[in-house]
Amino acid sequence: MATTPAPYKVAGIMGWPVGQSRSPLIHNYWIAKYGLEGDYIRLPVKPDSPTGLKDAIAGMRAMGFAGCNLTMPHKTAALPFVDHLDPMAKRMGAVNTLVFAEDGSISGYNNDGFGYVESLREVGYTDFAKGPITVLGAGGAARAVMLALADAGAKEIRLANRTDANAVATAQKFTDEFGVPVRAVPWADRCQALDGCALLVNATSQGMYGQPALNLVLDALPLAALVSDVIYVPLETPLLAAAKARGHQTTNGLGMLLNQARPAFKAWFGVMPEITDELRAKALATFQ
Ligand code: ATR
Repeated sequence: MATTPAPYKVAGIMGWPVGQSRSPLIHNYWIAKYGLEGDYIRLPVKPDSPTGLKDAIAGMRAMGFAGCNLTMPHKTAALPFVDHLDPMAKRMGAVNTLVFAEDGSISGYNNDGFGYVESLREVGYTDFAKGPITVLGAGGAARAVMLALADAGAKEIRLANRTDANAVATAQKFTDEFGVPVRAVPWADRCQALDGCALLVNATSQGMYGQPALNLVLDALPLAALVSDVIYVPLETPLLAAAKARGHQTTNGLGMLLNQARPAFKAWFGVMPEITDELRAKALATFQ
């Protein structure tokens, strides 16, 4: 007896620019792997039109999209168009995934922090309470990382940021409003802050392609500490190279990218997908 084909579904990544996005590779791999009917496409939406994002979201809904991912510069700008905001997206003040329901309502999620924590679990870092954590940076990536680390059990997060006032404000908000144990450390003291840490996270833009290396001396960091960078272009930032040379275990931002995609795919296509060796190899091949 012939089986009924899965219904056709479409999703995409909305941002500007989106030409460089690896998300189509990831989601289209899973669509094929699980025998689903669908496409995941790039949706270039310019930020400078006042109605552009609103119209684009309404248009997607009219065209029967299952949903979309949102990337720069739309993660916060999309909030007014969301009917149901999940608690993590609410705390973040940003969404990276929209899901359109049959009744036309839009739910907004933020899976970046989930992706980060899962990427650490993948490399064996599973006890988030085992020691202090230093996070560098206080932008969107840092906030996602810290909220997810706290949800996973982190007991002490030391936060340093080039602009100290941003670290102080973020630490205060996280402690007072979310009960997340974040303590601001002056940027000038970031190297000493590594003393006794089990995990170091670079969530600044430093070390990214086209940017200078992060200015950080690792001497105070215990050799057992995991050194992690949310950057994946390049896969090995100068920070990770220096950490490897000292003998640290390291992890880059590719695992976060792959893992944040999983719950979005599940919400649109109904399958919680796996990150196979084949997918990882395909993603890695795009960096050659
Ligand atoms: P994202 O959303 O990817 O986190 P972002 O919000 O622009 O991006 O944040 C970039 C982070 O990199 C910020 O913490 C920023 O520090 P400031 O708050 O001082 O701007 C940090 N950053 C940018 N340039 C830096 C530099 N030259 N040295 C150290 N940190 C830097």
